[in-house]
Amino acid sequence: MTNIGVIGGAGYVGLVTGVGLAALGHKVTSMDLDQERLAMLRTGKSAVYEDGLESILSRLNEIEQITFTDDQSEAVRNSDVLFIAVGTPSLSDGAADLSAVIAVAEQLRDEISEYTVVVVKSTVPVGTLNVVTDILSQKLTEGEDFDVVSNPEFLREGSGLIDFFAPSRIIVGAASERAKSVLREIYKPLLDGTTVVDIPWIDSACEIPYVETDATSAQLTKYAANAYLATRISFINEIAGISEKVGGNIDDIVEGLGLDPRIGSGYLQPGIGFGGPCLDKDLRALITVARENYYDPVMFNGVLQRNELQLREVINKITAAVGPSLYQKRIALLGLAFKEGTNDVRHSLSIRLYRVLRDQGASVIGHDLLAVDEATELEPDLEATSNLDAVLNGAEVIVALNSDSVYAEIDWPQVKLAGISPYIVDTRGILDHRALTSNDLIFDVLGSSG
Ligand SMILES: NC(=O)c1ccc[n+]([C@@H]2O[C@H](COP(=O)([O-])OP(=O)(O)OC[C@H]3O[C@@H](n4cnc5c(N)ncnc54)[C@H](O)[C@@H]3O)[C@@H](O)[C@H]2O)c1
Repeated sequence: MTNIGVIGGAGYVGLVTGVGLAALGHKVTSMDLDQERLAMLRTGKSAVYEDGLESILSRLNEIEQITFTDDQSEAVRNSDVLFIAVGTPSLSDGAADLSAVIAVAEQLRDEISEYTVVVVKSTVPVGTLNVVTDILSQKLTEGEDFDVVSNPEFLREGSGLIDFFAPSRIIVGAASERAKSVLREIYKPLLDGTTVVDIPWIDSACEIPYVETDATSAQLTKYAANAYLATRISFINEIAGISEKVGGNIDDIVEGLGLDPRIGSGYLQPGIGFGGPCLDKDLRALITVARENYYDPVMFNGVLQRNELQLREVINKITAAVGPSLYQKRIALLGLAFKEGTNDVRHSLSIRLYRVLRDQGASVIGHDLLAVDEATELEPDLEATSNLDAVLNGAEVIVALNSDSVYAEIDWPQVKLAGISPYIVDTRGILDHRALTSNDLIFDVLGSSG
């Protein structure tokens, strides 16, 4: 058992990390500045939606395996290892904003009093571990008082706990052998499949790859992973665009592509592009790092450009179908979070689409099962609800933006009976196309000609 502090412990990554490490039997002090979220977490409630999270959290609270505080020095006093999981959003030039990481490190410099391993879990560009080391070294001695380790996070929102307990890999980047062995001890219960509370996703028969490397490679691996996923999305969106022009069917193309074991089927679904808190920002940060190092990332620039154009494809379809003026057109957006299964609306392209439509005078109504509060907090004028019927009834245009299974089950005859026959755009191939056709509804699917 190790005493662990998680800084940024109320965020998506920090909370999953804190809960996950506590479930492995470590004593976790989770620290965050967000008082409201901390108060909720102490009662077993989370502002971050992850399947199964609240029940595991409540159990860990009961057995005092995890505690929450807003006092960083308390977390440092209680801990031999500190995970930093604060946000690293994009600056306007695309570089990662490291101010939260730096603020934490500057405080740690004055708080660490005995050997502590500082683990950077936040996604940070190559070189950031040196920055943290330099800050700590202003008062402390590397190797004696502290070591800094990179342990990038690969969780997918919506399946964050599954990704913690059954990760595709764990990557640890450090120069110090002592720090690496501390990390091995921390993850040992996970590799052995032992937990102190019931976790449905633990599979002790399944071997988890554990990769040790240097800090630079660990940090770059994270950016490479996100750049690759973004590339696949822009790739399939570009194929979808070509497919539409030449009369192809994107579902069949995706199936035919994905069956190639060298390609696989993940991240090959066309849509309005990649949004959310990670892919766009991490790709921009990687492009910035490349440029700063006098390398021209031509391919990643193209990936970003395709993504920027994608929203326009959807708007063009709407105006081609209903006319150039969207003034007072009732438009229903299905899916407001950046993807299904999460309440995260940060950099959601659905919200961006809403803004464009609103600015053209459309009357937009949005549906989401998990993210209505978050969406209206971000966009107070957006009419949003989790009542699907209320959104569909009376809509002149319906745009399906994520793959939530409720959209596959929409009762189209009922929608038609309820009033106007809407024009429908299915950006994710999720709707029941047979039912749409048999009800004589006009629809478009990204990537397939009408
Ligand atoms: N969200 C994801 O899917 C995901 C996946 C992998 C990696 N990451 C990376 O993990 C990092 C965190 O992302 P997130 O989505 O969890 O962000 P988040 O905004 O949900 O969480 C960050 C948390 O840090 C807290 N915080 C900020 N400054 C602080 C400080 N000085 N002291 C204590 N707490 C502080 C905030 O209050 C917030 O709760 C980012 O670098 C991100 O790129 C995110």
